[in-house]
Amino acid sequence: MSDLSSLTPLLAIETSCDDTACAILDSHGTLLGESVLSQEDHAALGGVVPEIAARAHLKALPSLVDLTLERAGLALSDIALFAATTGPGLIGGLIVGSSYAKGLAMARGKPFMSINHIEAHILTPRLPASLRPEETAPNFPYLALLVSGGHCQCILVEGVGQYRRLGGTIDDSAGEAFDKVAKMLGLGWPGGPALEALAKEGNPRAYTLPRPLKGRPGCDFSFSGLKTAVSRHLEPFGREALPRHIAADLAASFQQAVADVMTDRVKQALAMVPPVTALVVAGGVAANQTLRQRLENIAQEHHIAFLAPPLRFCTDNAAMIGWAALERLYQGEQPGDIALAPRPRWPLSERCAPSAHPSASTSPSLMEPSS
Ligand code: KG4
Ligand code: ZN
Repeated sequence: MSDLSSLTPLLAIETSCDDTACAILDSHGTLLGESVLSQEDHAALGGVVPEIAARAHLKALPSLVDLTLERAGLALSDIALFAATTGPGLIGGLIVGSSYAKGLAMARGKPFMSINHIEAHILTPRLPASLRPEETAPNFPYLALLVSGGHCQCILVEGVGQYRRLGGTIDDSAGEAFDKVAKMLGLGWPGGPALEALAKEGNPRAYTLPRPLKGRPGCDFSFSGLKTAVSRHLEPFGREALPRHIAADLAASFQQAVADVMTDRVKQALAMVPPVTALVVAGGVAANQTLRQRLENIAQEHHIAFLAPPLRFCTDNAAMIGWAALERLYQGEQPGDIALAPRPRWPLSERCAPSAHPSASTSPSLMEPSS
């Protein structure tokens, strides 16, 4: 491991969706301070509005950074390196967070590191603070299932920077499917937690719903047919209020179908790869107890460890961004990508987001198009 005394403590910023987050880590990955602000304005609008999210990040960041420094008992002058999520995600938020971190780095003459949000999620189970006392960090290779509002993919993690995407959704993400079905059932946003709570009152065998792609080769996911099937069962009720027991049965049947599909897809993924040490799950949907239990059962059947980081590390946070930066520094990577532009789409197979110009700043006119 390289000597990181001149590059730590590091301060990391995450702003790729609707959580504004900041964290400070030392050279061992110990979390010295952390703050997360989950934007609440989107609930009334039924989903994340990118423009509102970007403005809210801008408003929140200065005090959030100050609060994190205070929690860590440090001053800005103690920070040796700044890191931020520069993709994939909503471009407005990426610009705000990465520009803020770059500004701090430039003002203090310190280096900056560009971090891929997906990479950070799938390395999180190795973050010391995410491990429970009885757990040890997974060694490579391990299988990561990332299931959130924005992502649904299965990745073989062979090492830092060595990722093989085995499959992903061909339509909605798992979180989107939960949110959309919850909305149909008259539940609030985000729908996942509300749907899970309602499903506890229902019968998972009450409705016959499809299991999209189950049994097919590969490890892709699809949820749109499942969502449509739920909506068909709702048609007879028209504009009438849905009786609670029907909503509960539909919620339970939908959750069961998602769990069956995920079980099948993860088993397929395990059959596609050489032996792995662990199955890890990340993203907000990993909070779902039914899914967790099913995934844990698969891991047991395969005699591998099962790791689902505590929820605060499963959902978007900045500790994972700081940890991904450290994992890269441990590998001997040198920070120095301050000129790189944020990138709303950034495949894991590409380490660095290419800048639009060698001396590109982060001004919006120099951004890549979002397609
Ligand atoms: O990772 P996350 O906090 O944010 C990003 O999308 O990046 O994930 C949020 C998603 C939402 O779609 C939410 O409905 C879903 O995770 N979710 C759940 C549960 N808790 C959160 N889905 C199913 N069951 C849950 N208990
Ligand atoms: Zn995320």
